[in-house]
Amino acid sequence: MLDIRFATARSASGAVAVVVPSGSPDAALDLLKLGPADLAECAAFLEDVEHSGSAGTVHTLPRPGRKPSRLLFAGIGDGGEAGWRSAGAALARKARTETSLRVLVSHDTAPEAIRGLAEGLWLASYRFSLADTEPDPLRRVTVALPATGETIDALEQARAVVTATVLARDLTNMPSDRKTPAWFARQVVKAAAGIPGLTVEVREPSYLEAQGFNAILAVGRGAATERGPRLVELSWRPRGAKRHVVLVGKGITFDTGGICIKPTSNMKLMRKDMGGAAAVIGATLAAAAMRLPVRVTALAPLAENALGPDAMRPGDVVTHYGGLTSEILNTDAEGRLVLGDAMAYAVRRLRPDVMIDLATLTGAQGVALGKRTAAMYCDSDTLAGTLATAAAASGESVWRMPLSDDYAEELDGDVADLVNSTDIGAGSLLAALYLREFIGPLRDRWAHLDMSSPAWSDSNDGELTKGATGWGVRTLTRWLETSC
Ligand code: BES
Ligand code: MN
Ligand code: ZN
Repeated sequence: MLDIRFATARSASGAVAVVVPSGSPDAALDLLKLGPADLAECAAFLEDVEHSGSAGTVHTLPRPGRKPSRLLFAGIGDGGEAGWRSAGAALARKARTETSLRVLVSHDTAPEAIRGLAEGLWLASYRFSLADTEPDPLRRVTVALPATGETIDALEQARAVVTATVLARDLTNMPSDRKTPAWFARQVVKAAAGIPGLTVEVREPSYLEAQGFNAILAVGRGAATERGPRLVELSWRPRGAKRHVVLVGKGITFDTGGICIKPTSNMKLMRKDMGGAAAVIGATLAAAAMRLPVRVTALAPLAENALGPDAMRPGDVVTHYGGLTSEILNTDAEGRLVLGDAMAYAVRRLRPDVMIDLATLTGAQGVALGKRTAAMYCDSDTLAGTLATAAAASGESVWRMPLSDDYAEELDGDVADLVNSTDIGAGSLLAALYLREFIGPLRDRWAHLDMSSPAWSDSNDGELTKGATGWGVRTLTRWLETSC
């Protein structure tokens, strides 16, 4: 990760960035402490490029043979956290080929601004690679502020969220030939190792069988034994915590669709089908890194939805953990199966105050809300409100959908309590209604986030990089910070 630090001493070489709020370049120019001729040149340049100060714009003024050798003018819009995040991301891209960058900011810059700037710089400079490739030349960014309690705290908050997001992106980008359920579980064990207060349990198929996690087993049954299912439970238990939040994430390490096999165009990106599991693990690690005073348990039901001689068939009936039965009408509706087991287990064994699940659950989510906005289903206005606020503050987007009861009877089965798929449309809603059958007494203390599309980005865009986005780590962490 890029080395970001505070230093007030002026450095002689390298590029310098100045942060410019909308409509007022003068204060920013003062920070440069340049002579009158250079200042006039900068002012003329900003006018010439019509620098508006809008968030995410960067204009570069090369100054060959002079110091600094290059000036980058970065807009922060209205100066809110989001504007600074965009500026950080844009600077990371524009300054990729510099060796170091110094960012001049006014001395009264708010901690939220520093957090946004650092998150943007770090998240936009993320790269995924399977080999040990050369990192970008840009290795160090110094922010021209004194290192005080406040500035350091802001940077450390950003570091915790970014480290967790990077882990979620790495897990999700990993090709599925390497990404077996057991591999994923090992990554969680590694990430949690040595952090006081964190514990991990990895449940193997023999345990899942003994305890009745039959839906997780059914989904995983088409895969080779070495690629068999796991249930990971990562727990952050700070002393004195009053509330217990359980986060459940769909962890399908590859989704072929099973016997109801997907067409190639729908299958090729299905290594991302564990993005929900990656996000809940990431958020729990971030909670521990920030030492948040709330108990958090992340549950990741992991399975590969593959084809094989023993794969589940349409028409099969599985008995979920806790006893609800489900008729498999479509083997491609596997996410709700593994989540149902994990949620029933959470209700019975973990007794949470609040439960939130994240899942790349339906293609219908992207049809309704596009590439960047997750669908939120929640019966509580308060919980929906705090989650939406946390998402917006953290730079992610959710939209609340109705949990309409009128569709609930569509899920009634003939030979089982439930069917796992219907053909009446409203796919994202019906998946949410299926999950609602597993929340027991938590009716108004549960939220479901269908993040199928936002889990992936087709291009570099602001703080997102092409590929996995780590969607959900930021929303969940911010929510744990502010609402628990
Ligand atoms: N993993 C898919 C959903 C998905 C689609 C995620 C596109 C990301 C991008 C899920 O398991 C699935 O196949 N859902 C089906 C459900 C249907 C069979 C009821 C779908 O959405 O078509
Ligand atoms: Mn599927
Ligand atoms: Zn799936």
